[in-house]
Amino acid sequence: MAHDITLRYLGHSAFQIRHGSFDLLIDPFLTDNPCAAVKAAELEPTHILVTHGHGDHLGDTVAIAKRTGCQVITVHEIAEWLTVKGIDAWGMGAGGGHTFDFGRVTTTLAHHSSSFDDGSYAGSPVGFVLQLDGRTIYHAGDTALFLDMELIGRRFALDVALLPIGDNYTMGVCDAVMAVEMLKPVLTIPMHYDTFPPIAADPADLRDRLEAKGFGVAILAPGDLHFLR
Ligand code: NI
Ligand code: MN
Repeated sequence: MAHDITLRYLGHSAFQIRHGSFDLLIDPFLTDNPCAAVKAAELEPTHILVTHGHGDHLGDTVAIAKRTGCQVITVHEIAEWLTVKGIDAWGMGAGGGHTFDFGRVTTTLAHHSSSFDDGSYAGSPVGFVLQLDGRTIYHAGDTALFLDMELIGRRFALDVALLPIGDNYTMGVCDAVMAVEMLKPVLTIPMHYDTFPPIAADPADLRDRLEAKGFGVAILAPGDLHFLR
């Protein structure tokens, strides 16, 4: 009997995924996020996953990891940077997978940039495919639309795709529709929009376009839950 998986949208690209005794955080940008659903101090994750070094993704990772002692799973260069700060970090490279105690993580390409707040090099950005107890979730990170999403859709039977739609820094609604046609997830949840004026977007437009093509969409407000059975 598989456990329910609870997905909670925390705003921007931040998600909390609870599964059994595991509590995963992805891209926990909370303190400086005007739309954050929770305060960083309220979270007790077992693991944090970070797609790239930009402040709106790395976010509160250091403070949460130092307080809780949780492990951070991220790209090699960010893992090295965290290790110097005394944080338990696990480094990966794009295309690599690893089976952890909570499930399997595979990093994917993401077409974007990545640096720390001081401008220093943070490796290449990634997305994550999480395989948890028979369910598969893709968090695209920050990315442009790219044709190799077709490969992700062939390689994994995605239950959920978390896709940026805010435009300007990442793909927007039109490109997210093309991404879904390649990824073929059962459900798409938009992210990385409306946090700041340059990434204002209309998630209802995405929903209408995808539903017309037979794809499922759930628009979550910060704080909303979605249950994966
Ligand atoms: Ni970014
Ligand atoms: Mn971003």
